[in-house]
Amino acid sequence: MSRLQEKVAIVTGAADGIGLAISQAFAREGAVTVMADINEDKCKLESDLINQKGGETLPIKCSVGITSEMEDLVNAVVERYGRIDVLVNNAAIALARNIGEMTEEEWDKLMNINLKSVFRGMKLAVPHFVKQRSGSVITISSVQASRSWNDWTAYAGAKGAIMSMTNQLAGQFGEYNIRFNTISPGAIMTPMNERRIAEEGEEFLRKSIDQSALKRMGKAEEVAMTAVFLASDESAFITGEDIRVDGGLCTLPRYM
Ligand SMILES: NC(=O)c1ccc[n+]([C@@H]2O[C@H](COP(=O)([O-])OP(=O)(O)OC[C@H]3O[C@@H](n4cnc5c(N)ncnc54)[C@H](O)[C@@H]3O)[C@@H](O)[C@H]2O)c1
Repeated sequence: MSRLQEKVAIVTGAADGIGLAISQAFAREGAVTVMADINEDKCKLESDLINQKGGETLPIKCSVGITSEMEDLVNAVVERYGRIDVLVNNAAIALARNIGEMTEEEWDKLMNINLKSVFRGMKLAVPHFVKQRSGSVITISSVQASRSWNDWTAYAGAKGAIMSMTNQLAGQFGEYNIRFNTISPGAIMTPMNERRIAEEGEEFLRKSIDQSALKRMGKAEEVAMTAVFLASDESAFITGEDIRVDGGLCTLPRYM
């Protein structure tokens, strides 16, 4: 279990769901993992649990929606460890609104946390990667970027933009051995979807299961193992790529 030995990684939105699973998997594989989240208590609790099992993690309170907090995060990591090898832009919020009803405030809030956050993370980490002549940026997109669900225009727009940014930067910074990739999860059982099941009922759960070819929801750990691969040297010749972890959702027609 040493696929990420000697690597220093930052994971945003690390206190729960996919970000937590990525942090746990990174720590198991030997990475020093900096866990950033707005939920300070849960982040510290989960970090302690990982460390008790022999992992090395550091919890840092940080909102990806606030530039100064992202600057403090990256500076703290460089000061403490002297380098960053992997940046996982994972934190995001889910907000569905009919396009005719969505307010500009809602649009701006979603874009700030789901999209501008990715700009902040990349802007701050890339200069360090350039100096090191290495780095892996993994950004969590979504199958929403390429499939249609009613009322998810803003969320899907942000996820699609992330994929375009990834493609642009992969081309520009490849000569510095910096890799940019995205992961597009399908329906994964995390607190984000547990909240939707609570709000929308069992019908949402049934639809989420039916729409995947494998007829189940995905586990956060299954997304995490793809992040381990993209963070590791096993994927050294992969950049500008999107890997779907969707149980075959995108192979099925929309009316499923
Ligand atoms: N769950 C799914 O089915 C699914 C599908 C496709 C894509 N995704 C994407 O995967 C990523 C993780 O989703 P999840 O389901 O684990 O979400 P989640 O809501 O279960 O967990 C999100 C975590 O991010 C933290 N967070 C929220 N806002 C933050 C902020 N401003 N700054 C820092 N941390 C913040 C939360 O405190 C929480 O710990 C997101 O980018 C999401 O869009 C999820």
